[in-house]
Amino acid sequence: MKFFIDTANLNEIKEANDLGILDGVTTNPSLMAKEGIKGQDNILKHYVDICNIVDGDVSAEVIATDYEGIVKEGEALSALHPQIVVKVPMIKDGIKAIRHFSDNGIKTNCTLVFSAGQAILAAKAGATYVSPFIGRLDDVSTDGVDLIAQIAHIYNIYDFKTEVLAASIRHSMHIVKCAEVGADVVTCPLKPILGLLSHPLTDIGLEKFLADHKKA
Ligand code: G3P
Repeated sequence: MKFFIDTANLNEIKEANDLGILDGVTTNPSLMAKEGIKGQDNILKHYVDICNIVDGDVSAEVIATDYEGIVKEGEALSALHPQIVVKVPMIKDGIKAIRHFSDNGIKTNCTLVFSAGQAILAAKAGATYVSPFIGRLDDVSTDGVDLIAQIAHIYNIYDFKTEVLAASIRHSMHIVKCAEVGADVVTCPLKPILGLLSHPLTDIGLEKFLADHKKA
C-alpha cells in the first residue's frame, strides 16, 4: 500500500518524506488556500517545489469545470513536472477529460468520489487513481471504509488498473481499515501517519530495556 500525504505544507511534506515512507502527495484548492498560496504563478511554483521534495506522484487539481477548460488547465499542470498527476472532479466533463488525458499518457486522479458507480466510471475513463472521500462519508453516517472495500472488490473482478486512493482520512485507524480492505493508496495529513507509530506498551517496554541495560 502506498502512503501519500494530503497537504500543501512543505514542512509536513519534508517531515513525512524524511521518515522514508512517503510515496507521493495530494493537494486540493482548499489545502493550497490553507497555506496562503495565491495567484496562478505562485500556485504553479508551489507544485514544482513539492515535486522537488518527494520522489513520487503529486496531485494538482484543476479549477475549470468544463471539458475544454479542464483539458487546457490539466495539460498546463502536467507540463510543469513529470511527477504531476492531474486531479479532476467526478463530473460529466471531468470524465470526458480523464479519457482525453488517459489517451494522451497524462496521469489523473478522479476526486470527490462518493459511490461505487462513480468509481466504475472513473476506471472506465482510464483514471490512474480514484479518490473516495471516506471521512466525509463517515461525517454523514455512511461507512467510508465499506466504500473502499466495495470499489476494491469491483476493480479486482474486472482487473481495472485504476488505483483505489482512500482520501479524506481523519485518523490512524482509517489507515489500518483501508489497508485491511485492499486500498492501493492512502492519503492523509501527517498526524494520522505519525499516530501509527504510537503504542504505550512500546514506550513502557523501551523504558524497561534501557533501565535494565543500565543495571547490567
Ligand atoms: O484528499 C481529500 C481531502 O483533502 C479531503 O479531506 O478532511 O477535507 O474531508 P477532508
